[in-house]
Amino acid sequence: MLRNARHGGRIARAHLFRRQRVDRLHELLGDLPAWLEPLLRYVLLDELGPRDREVVQRVEHLRQEVAARRDEKYDIFASPKPGTAGTVDNPTERPTAGRQRQLTAEWLAMMTSKHQFAGTVLYLLSDGSKAERIVEFGACVGISGAYLASGASCKEFITMEAWPALADVAQGVISQVHQNAHVRRGLFNDGVDKLLEEGGKFDLVYIDGHHEKVATIQYFERMIPLLNPNCVVLFDDIYWSEDMFAAWELLRARSGFSHAIDFGDVGACLWDGKSEHPRLIDLGPYTTFSGSWKAGHDRLQPLKSFVAELTPKALRE
Ligand SMILES: C[S@@+](CC[C@H](N)C(=O)[O-])C[C@H]1O[C@@H](n2cnc3c(N)ncnc32)[C@H](O)[C@@H]1O
Repeated sequence: MLRNARHGGRIARAHLFRRQRVDRLHELLGDLPAWLEPLLRYVLLDELGPRDREVVQRVEHLRQEVAARRDEKYDIFASPKPGTAGTVDNPTERPTAGRQRQLTAEWLAMMTSKHQFAGTVLYLLSDGSKAERIVEFGACVGISGAYLASGASCKEFITMEAWPALADVAQGVISQVHQNAHVRRGLFNDGVDKLLEEGGKFDLVYIDGHHEKVATIQYFERMIPLLNPNCVVLFDDIYWSEDMFAAWELLRARSGFSHAIDFGDVGACLWDGKSEHPRLIDLGPYTTFSGSWKAGHDRLQPLKSFVAELTPKALRE
């Protein structure tokens, strides 16, 4: 009897929880373009269509294949220290990449690459926005690339990576989901020079490497002439460090974006080139991320401040 009552209580709470999220979904759809509905359904209600599930399974299978190389080592650039690319008003002309590190294939696939939840968000952004030309900064072993290139409208996928051996792995992975995928070897700024020279526009830009505030802003600013109207611009690891969070604070308020959506890890901005102030949508609380930065931050600080507020002044002094 008691067990039945408890079970009934749990079901009632689950219904209420779902109803609140459905209400939030409808509220958000009033503010956001309709193409975002499948993504919002995934983030808020954990719903995913059959084709979308297949995409996720295929990419996760590719991840497992890379991880199975276990201890094979690859060079990679770590993200450089904050402040190494100058200041926002005075950026260095070519920000220097971070230090070289060696990581195993298993670590790169399981830890460095975007995890399944964020990968699915990337895929739904690519698919929903009907992005035809996509460019990524930071291929690594090709996992986020495979998610992005799986969007049904993708006609060409380009990604950039400094380390040739990693670029080879990424090419092998992304080519399994898209025939017109190109991993370009070299530093990001040299890659941007080439893109500017070629002149083709992009529908989706994803910046996931060189996580330093000024460098991140600079890569984006250089890409502006290549953004199609309605381009989706994604900034990764916006909570990686206090410095990256500062970059996100500037970017999410930048004119030219109509909306800035915080997924708690990835920041997605919708470019229209004319809006003065983006609408900020915070989906962080619905994702697996806490929304506090990972590096260089005392994660307990908010709790400590809260306790300090409650403690009588006399006890604190
Ligand atoms: C975080 S990893 C990318 C992960 C990948 N997007 C994923 O989720 O599957 C960043 C990659 O960018 C590369 N990288 C960092 N700074 C770079 C630079 N300035 N030029 C070219 N490649 C760079 C690194 O070597 C690394 O492979």
